Amino acid sequence: MTSQRKTYNWAVLGCGKIARKFVSDLKLLPNARLYAAAARDLSRAQEFAGELGFEVAYGSYEALVSDPKVDVVYIATPHSHHREHALLCLSHQKAVLCEKALAMNSNEVNEMMACARENNTFLMEAFWTMFQPSYQKAMEILRSGELGKLKIVRSDFAFNAPYLEDKRLYNVKLGGGSLLDIGIYPVFAALTSLGLPETIKTFADFSPTGSEESISVICKYADGAMANLTSSFSSYSPTQTEYFCEKGHMVLTPRWFTPTHITVWKEGGEVTTYPNEHKQGFGYQYEAEHVMKCLDQNRIESPVMSWQMSRDLMKFLDRIRIDAGIFFPDHDKNLFF
Ligand SMILES: NC(=O)c1ccc[n+]([C@@H]2O[C@H](COP(=O)([O-])OP(=O)(O)OC[C@H]3O[C@@H](n4cnc5c(N)ncnc54)[C@H](OP(=O)(O)O)[C@@H]3O)[C@@H](O)[C@H]2O)c1
Repeated sequence: MTSQRKTYNWAVLGCGKIARKFVSDLKLLPNARLYAAAARDLSRAQEFAGELGFEVAYGSYEALVSDPKVDVVYIATPHSHHREHALLCLSHQKAVLCEKALAMNSNEVNEMMACARENNTFLMEAFWTMFQPSYQKAMEILRSGELGKLKIVRSDFAFNAPYLEDKRLYNVKLGGGSLLDIGIYPVFAALTSLGLPETIKTFADFSPTGSEESISVICKYADGAMANLTSSFSSYSPTQTEYFCEKGHMVLTPRWFTPTHITVWKEGGEVTTYPNEHKQGFGYQYEAEHVMKCLDQNRIESPVMSWQMSRDLMKFLDRIRIDAGIFFPDHDKNLFF
């Protein structure tokens, strides 16, 4: 006898750009019901809900979390507001999938996790790359040892986002800057293959608002391994990740953090390509499906994108920010690194 899987009532908090893409992938999952959407303005929530097929629209985030039918909330606001919005959801015992960066600094991340524990409620950072089949295959290849020891990781993510003072990407009050927005991906690539580094050196360039526009980070590990990480809003980069190993190298091809293919070169000249087998959508469905599996098992923490992984990712970003002199005055006031 097969048991029926529970259908989850999903809600979206913040009806912006990424929310639209995420929801279009959520539609691919039969046990995800598009239940509620909330915006700070009711008419925007109604427009979003109507267009994407949600049953209910709310004009405030408080109204959304007060709805007893909501099972899980996808938080898609700027990272400057993730702490506030996650605490709101968790204190109403709503499971949370929160966009990256999970928060602005380690203190905020720890506070969110303490709140999830106190309320016995699920919390996960929406780091979708972790769940991409191609990324998981690449990690399997590294772990198998067929390429020998990993010595250097080189990873980038850059695109030209023309400067506008009010744009989220350049607004320090909204967590603007390339590091937390897109540089987090190369940092994730280094963290998940080499761990936290011993030494970090950085160079950063800043926009007229004081937000960081471009950053280069070099990391050295205790065993001699290195990572070379770059992000920028002022130019385009290939957006790939390369792993240099003792017996060959592996490339996660552009755009490496989405579903993609993998090329492996081995000493002697053998080249193997693992094609991209992803068929439908952008690739956000994998993390959403994982969240529902965790909820099926009454988990409050994912065993894949764990709290420790999110804590380490934020610690890595904090250390980079200190070296580069990137501060968020509204958030970093009481930060003791
Ligand atoms: N995983 C990915 O691939 C990916 C890609 C892009 C972005 N992201 C992440 O997703 C988050 C949102 O990015 P986005 O590009 O979707 O941003 P966006 O289009 O600017 O949308 C952000 C939404 O946040 C809400 N919001 C709440 N308080 C706000 C405030 N004080 N100022 C501005 N907006 C506020 C707004 O929703 P309402 O007014 O509708 O309530 C707005 O629509 C960021 O943390 C970003 O890092 C992830």
